[in-house]
Amino acid sequence: MQEIFRNYGTIIIFLHILSAVIWVGGMIAIRFAVHPSLQSIDEPKIRLGKTLQIVGRLFNIVMPFIIISALCGIIILKGVGYSGVLIHLKEAIWTVMTLNFAYMYIKRAKAQKFFNNGDLAKAKEMVKLLPTILLPINIVLGLMAILAGVVLRGL
Ligand code: HEM
Repeated sequence: MQEIFRNYGTIIIFLHILSAVIWVGGMIAIRFAVHPSLQSIDEPKIRLGKTLQIVGRLFNIVMPFIIISALCGIIILKGVGYSGVLIHLKEAIWTVMTLNFAYMYIKRAKAQKFFNNGDLAKAKEMVKLLPTILLPINIVLGLMAILAGVVLRGL
């Protein structure tokens, strides 16, 4: 790992930060820009259909970066030789964010099935916690992970 970090350190840190930008930035954009604007669509079927589609596309973009983020984070920490509470905090945050992501992914996929079968009420029920609780939790955790990264790096 130290060898990999010595040779490819710049690209590895770049990929780690890029993953955070896409994962956390993507969630913020969907939650605070796209979602409120979708709510102005009057037709319920189009509103829910578009919401499911946009969130699904974001989730697919984010998925590989969740793995890249952890892989690069681990290479950096072994390469530099970081240890201590902040590293464990970052690992714990990553784990909770990933479990929350997996839960949201499954809920959205189930909602899509209900939606495709014409059951709008059940589809809506499946995803109702996403904008109110689950996405905000991951946004806050993501911001904490970024802050922990900055503190780890030092000035
Ligand atoms: C397995 C989980 C993780 C590990 C082991 C890890 C490890 C690290 C380490 C060692 C650094 C310091 C880099 C340096 O010395 O320049 C760092 C920085 C950073 N981390 Fe993570 N990280 C993890 C998860 C995350 C997550 C989930 C996010 C955000 C979604 C994140 C965002 C960042 C950012 C933005 C920096 C750059 C800070 C800076 O250079 O000022 N990390 N991370």
